[in-house]
Amino acid sequence: MRVAVCISGRGSNLGALLEALGPGAAARVVLVLSNRPEAGGLQIARDRAIPAAVLNNTADGSEWLRILTEARVDFLVLAGFLKQVPQQVVEAYRHRIVNIHPALLPDHGGPGMYGLRVHRAVLARGDHQSGATVHEVTEQYDEGRILGQARVPVLPNDTPETLATRVLAVEHRLLPAAVLAAAKSGRAVPFDLPPDSISEQVA
Ligand code: GRF
Repeated sequence: MRVAVCISGRGSNLGALLEALGPGAAARVVLVLSNRPEAGGLQIARDRAIPAAVLNNTADGSEWLRILTEARVDFLVLAGFLKQVPQQVVEAYRHRIVNIHPALLPDHGGPGMYGLRVHRAVLARGDHQSGATVHEVTEQYDEGRILGQARVPVLPNDTPETLATRVLAVEHRLLPAAVLAAAKSGRAVPFDLPPDSISEQVA
């Protein structure tokens, strides 16, 4: 399965996915797409000689589709991509786009909920658990079908930053598991984390 990863920032999830997908894996990252030329994740792509493109206009679905078709992309992964995907692209890749979100959706999602804002909201509400969610991308922000989640505890002295670090560690396991599960059927499917990650989850 030929995968494009869309990023806006440092790209640590992209890096984790590339680490997890060895040479014989059923999925291969063939393209990295960014809305920002200065996104750190673009350097990760360059270092690995993976083709990368910066979108001129993220709202222009035909620009997306031209680039995705040229690279023969089967499946799209949003990993820290902060723009809305145009409807034309969502339609063309129906059941073949996933996003990773740093909280346990349906809580703490929706427009404006990204980065440290998410973790601040978790702490402000006094939640005892947080985690990460991989879900299908639809026209509604953060509302597509939930495919897999991993939980982490919220600790008494957590700051948004310490919580973000704990959540990011499980994101890095969750996203590869989602992509490898999808590669088996060519579309987004519900999945479980591999057994070695289960000890990280809170019952
Ligand atoms: C991650 O927390 C992801 O869940 C969110 O944005 C962050 C991206 O981090 N959507 P990185 O660019 O993968 O390091």
